[in-house]
Amino acid sequence: MSTTEAALSNLSHEERRFFPSPEFAAQANVTAAAYAEAAADRPAYWARQAERLSWDRRWDQVLDWSRAPFARWFVGGQLNVAYNCLDRHVEAGLGDRVAYYFEGEPGDTRIITYLELTDMVCQAANTLESLGVKAGDRVAIYMPMIPETIVAMLACARIGAPHTVVFGGFSAEALGARIDDCEARIVITADGGYRRGAPAALKPAVDQALSTRPEVRTVLVVKRTGQDVDWTEGRDRWWHDTVDHASTTHQPQPFDAEHPLYVMYTSGTTGKPKGILHTSAGYLLGCSLTQWEVFDLKADTDVYWTAADIGWVTGHSYIVYGPLSNGTTSVLYEGTPDSPHRGRWWEIIDKYQVTTLYCAPTTIRTFMKWGKEIPADYDLSSLKIIGSVGEPINPEAYIWYRTNIGHDRVPVVDTWWQTETGSQMISPLPGVTAGKPGAAMTALPGIAVDIVDNAGKSVPNGSGGYLVITEPWPSMLRTIWGDDDRYRETYWSRFPGRYFAGDGAKRDDDGDIWLLGRVDDVMNISGHRLSTTEIESALVSNPKVAEAAVVGAADETTGHAIVAFVILRSEAGDGGEHIVRELREHVAAEIGPIAKPRQIMIVAELPKTRSGKIMRRLLKDVAEDRPVGDVTTLADSGVMDAIRAGIASSA
Ligand code: WTA
Repeated sequence: MSTTEAALSNLSHEERRFFPSPEFAAQANVTAAAYAEAAADRPAYWARQAERLSWDRRWDQVLDWSRAPFARWFVGGQLNVAYNCLDRHVEAGLGDRVAYYFEGEPGDTRIITYLELTDMVCQAANTLESLGVKAGDRVAIYMPMIPETIVAMLACARIGAPHTVVFGGFSAEALGARIDDCEARIVITADGGYRRGAPAALKPAVDQALSTRPEVRTVLVVKRTGQDVDWTEGRDRWWHDTVDHASTTHQPQPFDAEHPLYVMYTSGTTGKPKGILHTSAGYLLGCSLTQWEVFDLKADTDVYWTAADIGWVTGHSYIVYGPLSNGTTSVLYEGTPDSPHRGRWWEIIDKYQVTTLYCAPTTIRTFMKWGKEIPADYDLSSLKIIGSVGEPINPEAYIWYRTNIGHDRVPVVDTWWQTETGSQMISPLPGVTAGKPGAAMTALPGIAVDIVDNAGKSVPNGSGGYLVITEPWPSMLRTIWGDDDRYRETYWSRFPGRYFAGDGAKRDDDGDIWLLGRVDDVMNISGHRLSTTEIESALVSNPKVAEAAVVGAADETTGHAIVAFVILRSEAGDGGEHIVRELREHVAAEIGPIAKPRQIMIVAELPKTRSGKIMRRLLKDVAEDRPVGDVTTLADSGVMDAIRAGIASSA
């Protein structure tokens, strides 16, 4: 074993274990038996799970995989997704249960029950129909984080019109490209929303995108901020003039299990975003089942909060479809964690007695940077499970989260999945799995994954490779909208017969799974394979570091050279040569001299998308001293200028 490999296996050889308490395990929704039951007969397992949905017509066949990789699940079955999320709970006498506690950023609040939400969705469905929207028509939704966004999505689902939610932080250009790709003829938007203490406009981007797209006939506009908007007569309509006056009675019609539910665009390796298509029954089953098993949902008492944006798949699956299908009470928060103060999230948990928090590691690291004193001021004792999603959570962030938010008594679930998988795939089960900081652990019951080498051969424990999914699953993407060839090519060609996720992963000595980041983030340093994530983990394990992003910059001699961008914690001062030296040595000590960054740049911010992902591509441009590429998907497009300026002034 080379020194690097030895060092890497040391880093992943995490000794800490957090076992479920016997009391928790005894009351958990899922037991260890589920894995074997699912593996024994997968179609039978999924058929049993599908009973949790309400069907208008039962399926004839669980899975048709004869045209692989194009799957059809619950063939012949029919249901209505909105009925499953709303009416059936009202019919079961739960109309008074709270569906959402909405917390606007300025402090305005709304409490919406299942009955009220059902009425609102019926009104919106009637309005869309009166505007000529029919089953199969695509509807673009470009909204802030307000209840009407959810109402709009469910109204689309109710009438069988696939929605495409375009994240409110995207530019007019990005919105336009998505409208073109899925040929949406109606856009639902708002005047604006609140972010960082101020109204942020949305309507101008819609106007700009539509100035060259006369084929969009209708724009439905929610009044949220009251800011001035331009108005195109004949095209634009206020939500409150239409939806609020529509009938609250609307008969949901059954749709085929494979009827398209939505298209969500996600970036691929090429410039053109991919429209990931999800269909009705299988997707809803995936969200519903995983929210119940991974968060050990007790729908009659839990207050559940996914702190993500609805414009991202996490919001679709775990703010909208999973929670509503299960009759969950959720929190919906409009704004940023620091508005108007850095304790806002903890204040919300305290106020609503939130039991379950689900968020991204990048936010957790931001909280680490702000300091543990902030959450310590609030009562977080209502929490029973805390989750992580979106990127590998480094052991230090995991421990910080567990200690300062979970108070060492609450299980942490690190959940791996993708826009494409529709719902969670690899995660601990809180009543079953002993958690290891930094590991996503095991595929959920019914899900089959493997880690393979270049030749597609399963790797032994203690080795790394490519993560693949070896069996189809109900919530899988069905295709890339309008591009079956790209679907086959992107996901199914690298390892024929298996879905290639694009992620590197490793099995530790116990056979548990660690995610190592996208394989495009894997660097090759002098012939040694190093993951950006592992070096970031090493950096963040230094108490002076709040957050780190590592990129592999092209290097003539070594292939790639490691360049790190580091945000220091406030108590570490503002940097200087000695800290850079200390951090390089720290990484060398943690992983090995080979992992020592060539360069460490101390920065104040990192470039992130609105969904919280660090845009390493842009950092790579800086590291390789190139003009910075397309910044349109950044949450704050000024960050790159600040990084450049900071580097120039310290050089
Ligand atoms: C990464 C978000 C490590 C991964 C739901 C994946 C993760 C991509 C984790 C999908 C995790 C997500 N640990 N990496 N727990 N969760 N990822 O489509 O690289 O926005 O391929 O879906 O995020 O991102 P997407």
